[in-house]
Amino acid sequence: MASELTQAASPRVSVIVPTYNERENLPTLVEAVDAQLSAEYDYEIVVVDDDSPDETWYVAESLSEDYPVTVVRRRDEFGLSTAVMRGFETANGSLLVVMDADLQHPPSAIPSLLAAFDDRIDLVIGSRYIQGGSVGEFSLARRVLSRGANILATVIFPQTRGINDLQSGFFAVRQDVIEGADLAPEGYKIILEILIKCEYDQVIEVGYEFRQRVAGESKLGLGTIITYLRHLLEMANDSGRSGQFLRFCIVGIVGTLINVGLFYFLLRNDTFYLLAGVVAAETSVVANFSLNTLWTFRSEHDGTLASIAGPFVKDHLVRSVGIGLNLGTLFLLTGSFGLSEIVGQACGIVVAILWNFTGNTHLVWYRN
Ligand code: GDD
Ligand code: MN
Repeated sequence: MASELTQAASPRVSVIVPTYNERENLPTLVEAVDAQLSAEYDYEIVVVDDDSPDETWYVAESLSEDYPVTVVRRRDEFGLSTAVMRGFETANGSLLVVMDADLQHPPSAIPSLLAAFDDRIDLVIGSRYIQGGSVGEFSLARRVLSRGANILATVIFPQTRGINDLQSGFFAVRQDVIEGADLAPEGYKIILEILIKCEYDQVIEVGYEFRQRVAGESKLGLGTIITYLRHLLEMANDSGRSGQFLRFCIVGIVGTLINVGLFYFLLRNDTFYLLAGVVAAETSVVANFSLNTLWTFRSEHDGTLASIAGPFVKDHLVRSVGIGLNLGTLFLLTGSFGLSEIVGQACGIVVAILWNFTGNTHLVWYRN
């Protein structure tokens, strides 16, 4: 594949464009893509439309009279990710570009994505979060969501570390990387699926500026976010260590509820607040340990007292250090760097969770 690419003057490029109610944007997009690619590449545009009420599919079919446009009008399936999958199946190119129809992904950036391929690169991600990239006039809420989604994925899936824009819907990938992979992306998360399930050599990001939508409306809503979280959970469940991390976090949430609930209960029953704090904290540590022993790390011991006693003590030690790291982070960020107490504590909690998990997998439940 790589040799074919370097030998041939220009590989065949397929630009896959999923559409839903984009009749106003599509002609501009097709013209712009053609202007960028027709001189240098043998290319095609594959429009995958979900039988849009505004008849985008009809506009696409008219465009195919003047441009190399192939139209797939789906009536049986729905959704952005499966539309892209369908585009992958329909495309004939050896390089596949995926982009939105609404001109938020500038066609002028396509050549820089394609130019980034060399023999070792299999996937080029259009990125808003590296040099040369920007999110334009993204609302604060969208920014926070986008960054949060990225951080969450990076914590769970080591394969995604170092990549800044996992949510990007703008990328180019070699056809042979996709071929044969069992991809089942949901919602908007195609890049994540490719990174986790495909075999590839190198991945790089190329900056681009995310533009304002020209016409029509975004389809991203609460449903998209819930689907994303469910998708992360499902993928995490399939892979061992990440599944453990997820169970560890769920247990952690339960433990926190027990801690807060018991503290409140004891206070209401006139217990001295420091005593209430100690009892609540210790109870939650024991509850965490028990649930993790029964669930998260059930395969790491044989159920005998002897196989659990050691970890019980070690877990206490690890968590004591965790409390130190939590407070240390809070002090550093709030006391020294002047961030708000809430931000300091939130970061402290994240640091403690990561430490506690690493401690549990490498020290507490470490078998030799
Ligand atoms: N066929 C099909 N079916 N196409 C769809 C569907 C669907 O159910 N839903 C959306 N599309 C098409 C739109 O017509 C558009 O071309 C593209 O997919 C992106 O949809 P938007 O609704 O404009 O998404 P967005 O702008 O909110 O989200 C974009 O940015 C996100 C990152 O912030 C997309 O690029 C996402 O993939 C990306 O994660
Ligand atoms: Mn959009």
